[in-house]
Amino acid sequence: MLKFDSPFRTALFVCTHKRPDGHPKPCCADRGGAELRGELKDLVKAQGLEMEVKVFSSGCIGACDQGPVAIQYPTGELMMGIKPEDVPTILDSITDK
Ligand code: FES
Repeated sequence: MLKFDSPFRTALFVCTHKRPDGHPKPCCADRGGAELRGELKDLVKAQGLEMEVKVFSSGCIGACDQGPVAIQYPTGELMMGIKPEDVPTILDSITDK
């Protein structure tokens, strides 16, 4: 195994997990998870932060009832029930603006 320091300071994992239609448990895909990830990526790019903040898609994080959810590393902060209007605040909190 090879190990290296991460080339970026922060990683955001946004749940985009999709469950089959009719599944009794909710999923972030049906609650805007993919759109949220796209909005975060767009804002990171617009602010020129691509080398500082990476936005990844993740599978289920386990807070499905509160979706869409994201988790930030290295802090481990879990964000739930994220709304589109929260996107700038999330990025500001990460970049200490
Ligand atoms: S489906 Fe997103 S946390 Fe479970």
